[in-house]
Amino acid sequence: MPATLALLASATTDSHAAAALAKRLGLELLPGPSAEVPAGLDALLLLDGDALSLHQTGPRAPGPVSVDFGSAAMRHRRKGGQNELLGRAVGVGRKPRLGVLDATAGLGRDSFVLADLGCTVLLCERVAVMAALLEYGLARARRDADPWLVATSARMSLQQGDARDLAPAELAAIDTIYLDPMFPPRGKSAAVKKDMALFQRLLETDGDEADSDRLLLWALGQAVARVVVKRPLKAPCLAGRKPSHQLRGKAVRFDVYVLSAFTDCAPGDPGRETGGG
Ligand SMILES: C[S@@+](CC[C@H](N)C(=O)[O-])C[C@H]1O[C@@H](n2cnc3c(N)ncnc32)[C@H](O)[C@@H]1O
Repeated sequence: MPATLALLASATTDSHAAAALAKRLGLELLPGPSAEVPAGLDALLLLDGDALSLHQTGPRAPGPVSVDFGSAAMRHRRKGGQNELLGRAVGVGRKPRLGVLDATAGLGRDSFVLADLGCTVLLCERVAVMAALLEYGLARARRDADPWLVATSARMSLQQGDARDLAPAELAAIDTIYLDPMFPPRGKSAAVKKDMALFQRLLETDGDEADSDRLLLWALGQAVARVVVKRPLKAPCLAGRKPSHQLRGKAVRFDVYVLSAFTDCAPGDPGRETGGG
């Protein structure tokens, strides 16, 4: 059953902006900040000025979700060992201004890490609510007083929709397609699993492996140098396709499909190298 959502605007929020956002997302706009939350609602999207966050309802709901690239958690994430692995997997250092399509942007955490490593990142997210969270998070980062946050977010751009619908011109500057299609259950407790299940339902990501398989097959058909898939350590390879190599971390691995050498030539240019690399 699809999750039910509504938009709530705080008292200080521009009512026109709230109405426009509700219309764009096809959500009911609750009449006022003190409005009674209709029964049966799974979550509320809260617009508070220029900050957007998702709040699950219910007694055991986890905390709000928002995209805040300047948060302490994101700053801490910069130092994580997994970043180095992710950077190596997509090909950081193999050419200047590496262009990455994050075809499953989600909350943009991996995209931000890649932009921080110097990549130019096109984020693609098909769930409209998730894309709206990203849009507000990116806008906020671009207005921040911290020059590092402004410079990093300037290397990121967002497209809402299915990555497979991107026009060929939008892929022209892409060297690597990065896929992290599924939210694996985090933690072992039943409570955590239940929370994740609701989150997945809210975001329509129900862990459909067949859809992830199709996404990989689409990515492998594009004129890019690499496709990289983030997988739980013990999960089978998507679509049964054996990668060129794997980089294994403590909790996840990156399956790297090398399609061609990295080159500064534009796709279609006769100078573009093809073949295994
Ligand atoms: C596990 S999350 C990605 C998390 C992300 N790597 C991060 O760091 O926050 C997967 C996301 O991919 C999106 N998604 C899955 N298939 C997609 C597709 N074909 N095109 C665009 N988005 C897709 C889902 O809606 C979901 O938000």
